[in-house]
Amino acid sequence: MNAIKKLAVLALLLAAPAMAAANTDVPLDVAPINLKDQASLQRGAKLFVSKCLSCHSASYMRYNRLGDIGMNEAQIRKDLELPDEVKTGSTMQAAMDATSAKMAYGVAPPDLSVIARSRSADWLYTYLRSFYVDTTRASGWNNTVFPGVGMPFVMSDMQGEQVLEVEEHGGHKVQKLMLKTPGSMQPAEYNTAMTDLTNYLVFMGEPAVLVRHQLGWIVLGFLALLLVLMLALKKEIWKDLK
Ligand code: HEC
Repeated sequence: MNAIKKLAVLALLLAAPAMAAANTDVPLDVAPINLKDQASLQRGAKLFVSKCLSCHSASYMRYNRLGDIGMNEAQIRKDLELPDEVKTGSTMQAAMDATSAKMAYGVAPPDLSVIARSRSADWLYTYLRSFYVDTTRASGWNNTVFPGVGMPFVMSDMQGEQVLEVEEHGGHKVQKLMLKTPGSMQPAEYNTAMTDLTNYLVFMGEPAVLVRHQLGWIVLGFLALLLVLMLALKKEIWKDLK
């Protein structure tokens, strides 16, 4: 093999994972999340606890870690409507046990602690907005970014019911989701709610990220102070040596 061929093979090998990851026909929407927006993170946490914890756990996440997004102990209890027997120091556990969930939905709902790392924020944001009515499925639902998904659409009361329409454009098919029955939220409102939820899922995947950014600034501040001290010291020493 000559060098150029070798390089071409190498380039292909390097590009393969990227190509595999991009191998869905459905373009992902960009999640307009902001990890510094505490109000959004808090709304996301509330949605997560009220809408997702019935089936999914977040076993790496303790309720009191929500202190990192500005919620105090009392807020955590009250806003998330924690029952008295759940301590704020405990991890987020699903209401339903995995075996019953598997019997009900055919697949056990996975733990969502680090879901934003295995799926991206953009994937989650798109997924949460891409459920549509599909009467051929046991749950009555399907999803354009997760075809054949076992999860029933638990937010249809908020978003309403979408249907999938397939249009032909110059020989290839284009999938389009149309809102057939409106829910309690306007589409823009629902998108904001899903931004909040995605924001929270990303935070949950790495709660230390906020603390780490802060620590970075503290370290830089310390180094700057050290530099000033060193310069003063140097001046002091050279003064006597002159
Ligand atoms: C009624 C039970 C139930 C509820 C409530 C529920 N889910 Fe699910 N979810 C499932 C099941 C079952 C699966 C597995 C689907 C599969 O693999 O086919 C799933 C899968 C998922 C996945 C895909 C995981 C993967 O394989 O990468 C994500 C993401 C997800 N759920 C997020 C959520 C979020 C966010 C909420 C709250 C808004 C939620 N779910 C509420 C049952 C539920």
